Amino acid sequence: MNSKYLFTVTDQAFVTLGTNDSLRNHMTSRKLAILITSHVSSVMRTVLSAVFDEVIDVDEIDSNDLVHLALLKRPELGVTFTKLQCWTLTQYSKCVFMDADTLVLCNVDELFDREELSAAPDSGWPDCFNSGVFVFRPSLKTYSLLLQFANEHGSFDGGDQGLLNSFFNNWATTDIDKHLPFIYNLSSSAVYSYVPAFNHFGKDAKVVHFMGSAKPWNYQYNPRTTTVTERSSTPGPQNQLSFLVLWWKIYSASILPLLEKLKGTEGSESQREKIPTGNQQKVTSGRQSPDVTNSITELSIQLKPEEPSAEDERRKWEEGHIDYMGKDAFEHIKKKFDAFLQ
Ligand code: GLC
Ligand code: MN
Repeated sequence: MNSKYLFTVTDQAFVTLGTNDSLRNHMTSRKLAILITSHVSSVMRTVLSAVFDEVIDVDEIDSNDLVHLALLKRPELGVTFTKLQCWTLTQYSKCVFMDADTLVLCNVDELFDREELSAAPDSGWPDCFNSGVFVFRPSLKTYSLLLQFANEHGSFDGGDQGLLNSFFNNWATTDIDKHLPFIYNLSSSAVYSYVPAFNHFGKDAKVVHFMGSAKPWNYQYNPRTTTVTERSSTPGPQNQLSFLVLWWKIYSASILPLLEKLKGTEGSESQREKIPTGNQQKVTSGRQSPDVTNSITELSIQLKPEEPSAEDERRKWEEGHIDYMGKDAFEHIKKKFDAFLQ
């Protein structure tokens, strides 16, 4: 699957820490790599290995900095320190990191013309860069300096973005070429904080970033009407709905069929052989919505455990009627996976 595109540049890659298949749709000439932690279920790993060129296991690194994370009102973001391990991918000379909650709208291979550390301004504090999309050069030396810096100084937001901004602290002032245009990391919050600018420039967006705690996978999608609706517990901006619909279209066209297929072959010998043996029982409940790492588990939880009628269940699922507290609860899914993986 990796060599299906001509002119592939083998020593450069887009890297993510979660699910992101939209680059593939835009015929990138670069590799796609994903870092995953042991919290990702083996079913989802199998799906990811069909989408990405490289699936790389990494340890979860948590800043455990609850004080700063509380300031950000995002206690779940301590695990974004895991992202730092992208600097260990020295099989590549240059990479572009993209958060799992980004959606790529067109080919962005020109990002590889930029140097470390190139990133777009953060809409909340534009003298800081947003760490959802950045160009970097893997290097074990940089990686160990980053860890050392983290130990000595911590992160002002408790996540990777605070740390990286302190580490690459001349980003705002030194080299304008390292400022990516905002259209490479269009934050969904900016859409409603500066509507006239969005109306004027938004059509040129290349990468949309679903920042904040309301992620695309927290919404309900109806494929028949191709509409996305909020769950009552998920407050979020309404004017990013077209991007949400696009996210769901890609997810239901490219990922759901793989999940369904995998489910369909449950128990068959060939399938069992393909599934890696490590960490298979670890499926989280998905009740929280961390920015990056757990997005994979969020998606995996949407597999249904018991099926009175496959057809009926599928329809219910597609309409967003997932019984998280009842038959689709984590315990039931886990039981099913455990039985399947034994
Ligand atoms: C912001 C960034 C995200 C980062 C987080 C923690 O939400 O968009 O990429 O992981 O801050 O620093
Ligand atoms: Mn993000």
